[in-house]
Amino acid sequence: MPLKVLILGGSSEAGALAAAIAGDTRLDALLSLAGRTQTPAASPLPRRSGGFGGAQGLADYLGAEGVEALVVATHPFAAQMRRNAVAAVRLRPTPLLIVDRPPWAPLAGDRWTCVADMTAAANALGEAPRRVLLTVGRQDLAPFAAYPQHAYLVRSIDPPADAPVGAELILDRGPFAEVDERRLMADWGVEVLVTKNAGGGATEAKLGAARGLGLEVVMVDRPALPELEGLDAQVVRDADQAVNWLSHQADSPTERGV
Ligand SMILES: NC(=O)c1ccc[n+]([C@@H]2O[C@H](COP(=O)([O-])OP(=O)(O)OC[C@H]3O[C@@H](n4cnc5c(N)ncnc54)[C@H](OP(=O)(O)O)[C@@H]3O)[C@@H](O)[C@H]2O)c1
Repeated sequence: MPLKVLILGGSSEAGALAAAIAGDTRLDALLSLAGRTQTPAASPLPRRSGGFGGAQGLADYLGAEGVEALVVATHPFAAQMRRNAVAAVRLRPTPLLIVDRPPWAPLAGDRWTCVADMTAAANALGEAPRRVLLTVGRQDLAPFAAYPQHAYLVRSIDPPADAPVGAELILDRGPFAEVDERRLMADWGVEVLVTKNAGGGATEAKLGAARGLGLEVVMVDRPALPELEGLDAQVVRDADQAVNWLSHQADSPTERGV
């Protein structure tokens, strides 16, 4: 019997993993999305959409569907889903893999101000009016409304509900090229870029552009991973390592009890 796998997606790694394992007859994998993005990227795996109803809901789902391996390949800032997944496998023991891409690190010439969360990021912009490029996603804009003295350019995939009043909007999805990022920043007169430390290549070009233009970057640090002590759980950095883990799970019938 193929290994029953649930992949919690919403990241480029989830897409790469889905592409890599589609057609692998040892696996019966389903990709789960939160359902936030209006037009999610195409997937070669069967998909479901929407929440499970918290940790207990996910544990119940794992049990009802007979899931034998849970892969958490959500975005590094989707902290609630990671917490729920860890809590769920404590309730319903299931081998767990978390795909956690490495964060970005500053290079020579970078002018980063690192902050713990979005409220601190908004506060770090200071009193004096500035021209700010906000690339923090559409769900995390509320703290910037408290600092209306700045001019904001917001870039997100789907329209945000709570952009600061007067903000200009660009709807676009990466990957972006550095030359285009640099042109955008120069044309709009950006003075400071605000970003989550998402890591990965798809949206990294903005950092090179800011470096080249000598701009400050307010960098929001990522939430810590949940405690995995006592669990059958591993953390890997990319889709290739996730494929290896799934191969190992599929080829270990004694561990699976089949
Ligand atoms: N946060 C970001 O910066 C960011 C950036 C890019 C993409 N994303 C993606 O967008 C989605 C939502 O992100 P978020 O930050 O709102 O998540 P979150 O705060 O960690 O999760 C909130 C709730 O959304 C549901 N959910 C999240 N991911 C899910 C998935 N893959 N499948 C089914 N339900 C899911 C869960 O609902 P229940 O409790 O009802 O199960 C979860 O409790 C995630 O899939 C994430 O990978 C997030």
